[in-house]
Amino acid sequence: MTRKKIENQYKEKINLLIKFNKNYYEYSDPIVDDGEYDKLKNEILALEKKYTFLKSENSPSKLVGFKPSKNFKKVFHRVPMLSLSNAFTEEDLINFEKKILNFLDKKNDYKIEFSAEPKIDGISASLIFKNRKFVTGLSRGDGTQGEDITENLKTIKDIPHVIKANDFPDEIDIRGEVFIQNSDFKNLKNKFANPRNAASGSLRQKDPDETKKIPLKFIAYTFGYEKNLSVNTQSKFLEKLNNWGFKTNHLNKVITGVKNLLINYETIEKKRGDLDFDIDGIVYKVNQFELQKRLGNVANAPRWAIAHKFSANSAISKIENIEIQIGRTGALTPVAKIKPINIGGVVVSNATLHNEEEILRKDIRIGDTVIIERAGDVIPHVVSVEKNKRKSGSKKFIFPKKCPCGFETIKEFNKVTKKFDAVRRCPDRGFDCDKMAKERLKHFVSKEALNIEGFGKKIVENFWDLKIIRLPQDIFNLNYDKIENLDGWGKLSASNLKYSIDLRKKISFEKFIYALGIRHIGLENAKLISKSLKSIKNFLSLSKKGNLNELLNIDGIGETQINSIKNFFSNKTNLNVLNELAKLLSVKDALILKKDGILSDKTFMLTGKLDGMSRAEAKSLIEQNSGSIISNISKKLDYLIIGEKPTKRKIDAAKELNIKILDQNEWLKMLNKTS
Ligand code: IVH
Repeated sequence: MTRKKIENQYKEKINLLIKFNKNYYEYSDPIVDDGEYDKLKNEILALEKKYTFLKSENSPSKLVGFKPSKNFKKVFHRVPMLSLSNAFTEEDLINFEKKILNFLDKKNDYKIEFSAEPKIDGISASLIFKNRKFVTGLSRGDGTQGEDITENLKTIKDIPHVIKANDFPDEIDIRGEVFIQNSDFKNLKNKFANPRNAASGSLRQKDPDETKKIPLKFIAYTFGYEKNLSVNTQSKFLEKLNNWGFKTNHLNKVITGVKNLLINYETIEKKRGDLDFDIDGIVYKVNQFELQKRLGNVANAPRWAIAHKFSANSAISKIENIEIQIGRTGALTPVAKIKPINIGGVVVSNATLHNEEEILRKDIRIGDTVIIERAGDVIPHVVSVEKNKRKSGSKKFIFPKKCPCGFETIKEFNKVTKKFDAVRRCPDRGFDCDKMAKERLKHFVSKEALNIEGFGKKIVENFWDLKIIRLPQDIFNLNYDKIENLDGWGKLSASNLKYSIDLRKKISFEKFIYALGIRHIGLENAKLISKSLKSIKNFLSLSKKGNLNELLNIDGIGETQINSIKNFFSNKTNLNVLNELAKLLSVKDALILKKDGILSDKTFMLTGKLDGMSRAEAKSLIEQNSGSIISNISKKLDYLIIGEKPTKRKIDAAKELNIKILDQNEWLKMLNKTS
């Protein structure tokens, strides 16, 4: 064969590979199976080996660094996979129960049943069954979108492929934990640091035969979407799971009362070391589905469940230095750099000292021997100082009064507590303080905000140091020719980055607001604002107005949040960021869940106490039916709902404006419900 012919043949194969890749990675719609793909890849590699003059930047030999996650098709969860809030103490549990009782407007002595389930520390997965067949299996991903890992999940023996039982729902997403038993992990002798990593690594193998080699287990505990599921409690559901052929945890129990939850917690914690799988706490779920439904969710965790994490582990170490970190909101947080120490299987070398007052109160000094505690995923902290071990001549730690950027720090006055904050802050409101700016960029790309895959904290640091990025909009104006020539980068990784960034140019309005990183505007508040303002257009016009009082109408948004947004809008750089991003991104209008609900376009206000229902529940009921709650009486208000002991002033004001006044029954009738 002539050289020309060989080159042509090679080029042809490369072009075919590009086509396969495009369909697989960009359109998530592969046109060949894995076998054919691998065959082509090997042919190219063989040609390159034989004829060294063959070169292409699209050669599979250059494909190193391709992120494994790109190997799986992304699929939206029909019902999002939420996470759980954490509880650590008895007080946390008391609060959890209290909040539930308040929301449901139940008396303090009402007995709520909980399903208490050991929390296995593995990887969650969602298994979609249609007509009793396991059709698709997804990883959790970011909770909204997971990865299609069906083939890998099919290798797990605990997962039934076909269900025989007659009472199995027509459609259901069965959710549970994939994990590896400790005894199996010991026999593996592979590169994974712990069983959880082994499970996660194995599930993400591109080749299901590789997954098969690791004995993964599956325990089922909840569901997402369902059609025709006929049970009404979690404990019955767990029983059903067993009947249908799924494994469930044999330590699951139904319990009432915080005292009994604690007894169970202690019993299981004692057994923890004897179990053949890692558990890191107990999950409590309100047992009645009807109550779960009423309770609903906050941001990304249900109100009806909580994870009670196992108690902290502690160890003794020495403070080698105290560094001051500046957070996204300007808070100066002192961090103790300690002599690395293993606490419960994790090597700890940093411990938070919280704030200036904490250092003063505990008289923490550089060189001190201290007790460090680590609980769950929370940052380790210093519990106490072993003062008897302190060397003479040690000096008190002087907290810096200036931010490294040069600004004099401030302690804000809290109008509610009438005290100065314990936290010292850099007063910068925009991007002038380098440390804050960097943190704001990290927040911007983070999972809950833009969620740019492959653009993590390290890349922000790196691009910042190289002066590639300064403001959020710079992320969408990157010079990829420059990036591909940077250390550790290449053509392919640069184009992968571009791909991930472009993918996120389409963003929901609430995530956009959250991504801006305005103080006091977390996910929940961003959601409230987005629902009320509906589009970025309205947000931009608000930024031009000096007056943000219309936000006061949003139930849940108060003076603190409004002042913070005002502060944000008062900074020129912030306005520039806002306007540039609005041009570069396509911000989707707020999704109104049920636009056509019974209360569509109607506004409500509540006064007085309702019977058998908390204010929070009433609000969520109105919103579920497309109505909205406002907290000021104005012409915009359609209905004032009055309960027991209403505020007379509100009723008078409503009458004056001819606003319809409803009692609880009249309002429930509107919803086709009667109490
Ligand atoms: S229920 C909304 N039940 O804990 C309900 N989760 O932070 C969320 N987990 O991602 C899940 N055991 O991986 C539930 N019995 C159990 C669980 C459990 C372990 C994990 C799961 C989830 C995480 C929540």
